[in-house]
Amino acid sequence: MLFNLPRTFALALATGGVASAATLEQWRSRSIYQVLTDRFARSDISTTAKCNTTAGEYCGGTYRGIIRKLDYIQDMGFSAIWISPVTYNIPEKTKFGYAWHGYWQQDLYRLNDHFGSAQDLKALSRALHARGMYLMVDVVTNHNGWNGPADSVDYSSYRPFNDQKYYHEPCAITDYTNQSIVEDCWLGDSTVPLPDLKTEDSTVRKMYNTWIAQLVSNYSIDGLRIDTVKYVDQPFWSSFQRAAGIFATGEVLSSNITFACDYQNQLSSVLHYPFYYAVIDFLNSTTGTTAPLLSAAATFKSSCKDPSVLTTFTENHDLPRIASQTPDLSLATNALALTLLWDGIPTVYAGQEQHYAGYADPDNREATWLSGYDRESELYNVVRVLNRVRSRALALDPRYATYNIWPLYSDAHTVVFRKGFPGANIVSVFSNTGSESASLSFNISSSAAGWKPGAEILEVLTCTKFVVPADGVVVVQVERGMPKVFFPLASAVGDLSICRVVHPGGKGSGAKGASGTTGAAGALPGETGRSVARPGGIGGWGKKKKAVAVAGVMAYEMLGA
Ligand SMILES: *[C@@H]1O[C@H](CO)[C@@H](O)[C@H](O)[C@H]1NC(C)=O
Ligand SMILES: *[C@@H]1O[C@H](CO)[C@@H](O)[C@H](O)[C@H]1NC(C)=O
Ligand SMILES: *[C@@H]1O[C@H](CO)[C@@H](O)[C@H](O)[C@H]1NC(C)=O
Ligand SMILES: *[C@@H]1O[C@H](CO)[C@@H](O)[C@H](O)[C@H]1NC(C)=O
Ligand SMILES: *[C@@H]1O[C@H](CO)[C@@H](O)[C@H](O)[C@H]1NC(C)=O
Ligand SMILES: *[C@@H]1O[C@H](CO)[C@@H](O)[C@H](O)[C@H]1NC(C)=O
Repeated sequence: MLFNLPRTFALALATGGVASAATLEQWRSRSIYQVLTDRFARSDISTTAKCNTTAGEYCGGTYRGIIRKLDYIQDMGFSAIWISPVTYNIPEKTKFGYAWHGYWQQDLYRLNDHFGSAQDLKALSRALHARGMYLMVDVVTNHNGWNGPADSVDYSSYRPFNDQKYYHEPCAITDYTNQSIVEDCWLGDSTVPLPDLKTEDSTVRKMYNTWIAQLVSNYSIDGLRIDTVKYVDQPFWSSFQRAAGIFATGEVLSSNITFACDYQNQLSSVLHYPFYYAVIDFLNSTTGTTAPLLSAAATFKSSCKDPSVLTTFTENHDLPRIASQTPDLSLATNALALTLLWDGIPTVYAGQEQHYAGYADPDNREATWLSGYDRESELYNVVRVLNRVRSRALALDPRYATYNIWPLYSDAHTVVFRKGFPGANIVSVFSNTGSESASLSFNISSSAAGWKPGAEILEVLTCTKFVVPADGVVVVQVERGMPKVFFPLASAVGDLSICRVVHPGGKGSGAKGASGTTGAAGALPGETGRSVARPGGIGGWGKKKKAVAVAGVMAYEMLGA
């Protein structure tokens, strides 16, 4: 078994604890793969079924399908999955299509049967736990959904909030900077309004708390992703978190770290949007410099109660895919490396490993099966290697998780970070110059990196090694803007496959390790010289569809999804 962490949630629940220390501790070392249940895998795991994202139809993904494709996820190194909301939604087609995403719920005590039965969901939970993996379920408490004008809402059709008294009066959010308007008014629009719950009301809170405790228990859920957190009054979250009794990461869509992390006083974690924005600013070929990342490294660690459990990401179903902004594979690799190696719990959105290029909602909600679940793709293997090296560092020294990333070197376009104590230290180099850029080199000090002269260091993305020189000056070479990820060779030997790139399709990669069956020891790192990604793209960040990021986010916010 890859992961040996015992589950003690039952205990946490029995003692009525909040996300207990143990629970938080267990999540800290996890790595999450986000799937939209309808779009990840069909029960028959076929890869040809059409899925027109524009049409807003159900495309046929199910819990059974996910179960059958868990190898694809686990082999990439993920130890948890986040699935779509499971509850019953608006059943009919709206102007914006069907509620296949799950954010327009109507009955919290009934499942969305497009995804499968209660037995199927329990089977998914069991299948994950049998692999030592965790189940994270997306939940919504801010709103319900309705197909029709706000004054036509039939409140009695909802469960359990079957009376208008549980809801705020309909009003549009006219000022996103005014929290009382943001919290009390309705998301959605005049055709699909999202009736907004009175979450400040003690009866509403009790009903939500009863529901979440049951949901967690009925399906043995290990973690929650909570939707639209900033649209709910903050005090609501303390009791909800307590009632859930498990790790919860809340969606607080803001680039303001102080604002976002304020919610960590109620919830175990929040989605790390401030990190996302820093990465996006860094990758922008028009304006990008390393300043946003340096500032992030300097400030995030002291702005949040526990930065090591924030969930980091560079894509999700609400954001333009990286490849919709730039076809450059080198920049895409940097984005993934930052996601997986920054402080926090990395979260990768299905399709990012296939270099999917969907722009905003609904284009960025492509069916994963259309990639054929290609395990030989460049980015699949980047993720695989980086998850491995992170897991290895954590296994050697759990303090890796709480060690705050810090810069060793930076210039305008390249930055080197260190994370971890000697022996479990990862030193990573990020660059925003893209695959067309000339190679460049600079020096770093081995003592700052945590390396002793004479030590052998592995670069895990190219599977090459070097020996730290006696004078302690290490010359780092960056080629084609690709990231570099250094790890002590002695620390990697427990898992020599750490940088074994499964890449049989690539020219010159040979068959070594093609199926993960040949001994990596035969191909010692440094002797293959294989490189993971061969960036071939051109252009740069921001050359395409500039500024639509903002429009995409707005569209998403309107729909509350
Ligand atoms: C996808 O759906 C949209 C909206 O229904 C439609 O206009 C478009 O023709 C469809 N595309 C394909 C390839 O079927
Ligand atoms: C926010 O909106 C509320 C409700 O409209 C209003 O009473 C309040 O004055 C506004 N606050 C600010 C700071 O504008
Ligand atoms: C949990 O299961 C119990 C027993 O089957 C059922 O009565 C209850 O409605 C379920 N609650 C949820 C939220 O699924
Ligand atoms: C960030 O959020 C904090 C807390 O809500 C607020 O006081 C501050 O003004 C915000 N900063 C910016 C630049 O908006
Ligand atoms: C980097 O280190 C090499 C080898 O020690 C040395 O020759 C070179 O001058 C150094 N470059 C800089 C910019 O310090
Ligand atoms: C890149 O920066 C420019 C200038 O600030 C901005 O207009 C553009 O929207 C940015 N691109 C992205 C993808 O954020």
